Amino acid sequence: MTRVRDLLDDSGLPRLEARMLLEHVLDKPRAWLLAHDTDPAEPRVQASYMALVRRRLAGEPMAYLTGEREFMGHAFRVTPDVLIPRPDTELLVETAVALLQGRPGARVLDLGTGSGVIAVSIALACPHVYVSATDRSVAALAVARDNARALGANVHFFQGDWYEALPEGERFDLIVSNPPYIAGNDAHLTQGDLRFEPRGALTDGGNGLADLASIVVGAVCRLDPGGQLWVEHGWDQAEIVRDMLIQADFEDVISHTDLAGIERISGGKL
Ligand SMILES: C[S@@+](CC[C@H](N)C(=O)[O-])C[C@H]1O[C@@H](n2cnc3c(N)ncnc32)[C@H](O)[C@@H]1O
Repeated sequence: MTRVRDLLDDSGLPRLEARMLLEHVLDKPRAWLLAHDTDPAEPRVQASYMALVRRRLAGEPMAYLTGEREFMGHAFRVTPDVLIPRPDTELLVETAVALLQGRPGARVLDLGTGSGVIAVSIALACPHVYVSATDRSVAALAVARDNARALGANVHFFQGDWYEALPEGERFDLIVSNPPYIAGNDAHLTQGDLRFEPRGALTDGGNGLADLASIVVGAVCRLDPGGQLWVEHGWDQAEIVRDMLIQADFEDVISHTDLAGIERISGGKL
């Protein structure tokens, strides 16, 4: 007889990952597993669990196997159509939320929303602002819409290439974006979780700066006077992004560091 505990012990995965996959298959919390670890495991559960274990051993990201990732304290649905949200990106959301305090009615835009984590988290933290979000990927937008609905966030979604997705003449007080910024020849694209994520969410296929440049240049016509743009970028791109912002006539250009001390986001004011 195979017991619940045997499934955890014999998977070949780190204990935490095995437990998360079993919790997902059983749709039960950790406390249930602890209380029932000597129960017999049903053949149906065994089969589903072992299928996930095999996929994990082949390298598939945990978030795609469980279909979920936490961000800013909210559970977001993720699929292979969207980037897996990174904790680093919470810095961009925290910066936006701080800027939006005492700004009822402010208009916010999230470019390249993916699973919707940035737009939805801002909308939930600042219910008094008007949040729009875009993505080129129809499939990603479907996931973002689902997340907004499930979490009760009011976000207006548009599909298309960066600013072209938006109604003509629509302007904002704050634009945020975590665009693809990895260079197309970066070896990391062929390693770890990145192998399974949508290529178009990770890289512009060139030097990793083309989408950042499009977003910076295009923001000038989409921000109201005094409006701000903040973008996430790679660990070695802060100086070049600050230069882009200065060239585009942004003022008070500055970068903020993440918890690891890396300059992770840069922004400025028109
Ligand atoms: C790095 S992912 C960020 C996803 C999400 N905002 C996050 O932080 O987890 C970049 C997103 O930009 C979208 N994207 C890439 N090129 C685009 C373009 N030209 N116009 C609009 N969206 C684009 C991708 O589909 C992807 O969802």
